[in-house]
Amino acid sequence: MNIGIDKIGFYTPHLYVDMNKLAVARDIEPEKFTVGIGQEKMAIPPITQDPVTLAANAALGILNEADKEKIDFVIFGTESGIDNSKSAGVYVHNLLGLNPHARTVEMKQACYGATAGIQLAKGHIALNPESKVLVIGSDIARYGLNTAGESTQGAGAVAMVISANPRIMVLEEHSAYFTNDIMDFWRPIYSDKAFVDGKFSNEQYIYFFSKVWEQYKEKSGLELKDFEAICYHLPYTKMGLKALRTILDEGTEEDNERLVANYQVSTQYNRSVGNIYTGSLYLSLLSLLELNEGLEAGSRVGLYSYGSGAVGEFFTGILQSDYREHLHINDHKHLFDSRMEVTVPEYEKLFEETLPVDGSTLELDITKDTAAICLSGVEDNKRLYVRK
Ligand code: CAA
Repeated sequence: MNIGIDKIGFYTPHLYVDMNKLAVARDIEPEKFTVGIGQEKMAIPPITQDPVTLAANAALGILNEADKEKIDFVIFGTESGIDNSKSAGVYVHNLLGLNPHARTVEMKQACYGATAGIQLAKGHIALNPESKVLVIGSDIARYGLNTAGESTQGAGAVAMVISANPRIMVLEEHSAYFTNDIMDFWRPIYSDKAFVDGKFSNEQYIYFFSKVWEQYKEKSGLELKDFEAICYHLPYTKMGLKALRTILDEGTEEDNERLVANYQVSTQYNRSVGNIYTGSLYLSLLSLLELNEGLEAGSRVGLYSYGSGAVGEFFTGILQSDYREHLHINDHKHLFDSRMEVTVPEYEKLFEETLPVDGSTLELDITKDTAAICLSGVEDNKRLYVRK
């Protein structure tokens, strides 16, 4: 049975900061951020957006009434969840008006959560071919003001419908994965900012890639030449390029040109958003599919997922005929075009705004937030959401 991505949608907040201006404010050469790290703009979430609203806004644009009826499993991948007990997916399930006869869970393993969700969805569809599964990766990446990780923050969500006979991409049989207990990046429950050993995390990302790439080739019998493109988890856009370069000597000059050109296309959306943790790999896939008009049906796309701590996985998909007709290219173009720039001081103020943690009531002004679904306040230790 063919199982894979039937729909894919994306949401990022309506505010961003320009990386050139952030570099100047931090007394850093702008090229370090725009070339060395490879980021142009960084999405800034207003206090009225959290991982729940980002996820719900991403899914809202792609689901029709038939999907809402057929979805019987919601898998919410996140590493910036809002509750240690209740799944963020349950809020999304309600905000979207999904069929109550559904399972809903939250999946956590750093940036790998959505990939685990996709693999679980694949198994569910194999047993229940009529079902559809909603898999979401949604996060706000926070390292802190004036930290080394500051330039690799971001916010956003990618929502995917996984089904039998998918109209965008069929996931192939083989997959290679690798786990090792390391401390490259982590966020203890008491902290709203991540801790990171930056250089070590870069090394481990590449090491895990080499492990899963070698195992994938053994399992599948495929080689570099069999790939039209490879998409990477992108904490920043230079990172995937470093990994891609480690395998280019396995291909011809023609293979290298094709893979590097497609890599550049696959990083365009991420360049303008920043790291969205669990959704980053799928934002890169979306960038490739929506911006490369010449990518033919039947092409094989490789996907490298990496979640610090750490788990890595390499798997592949085949693009389906007329897949472009099932993308939401104009909606995403509009989303990018209608964003507003904030100054560095405005970004710093937004960064420091946090919700009460003492049970007090807070009512938020949602009139300036352009999103359809917003966080409107907190009361009795409960977040309140509205769908405008
Ligand atoms: N012009 C052009 N390039 C410049 C430059 C200039 N003026 N100045 C510096 N650069 C280049 C450097 O040469 C370097 O390039 P290479 O990596 O290709 O050598 C690049 O800019 C970055 O410079 P530094 O290594 O000096 O940067 P840094 O030490 O300040 O921090 C970082 C970089 C480690 C990525 C840091 O931003 C960080 O810790 N980020 C968070 C962790 C992270 O994203 N890790 C990635 C792997 S882990 C993962 O993938 C999971 C996840 O999502 C977090």
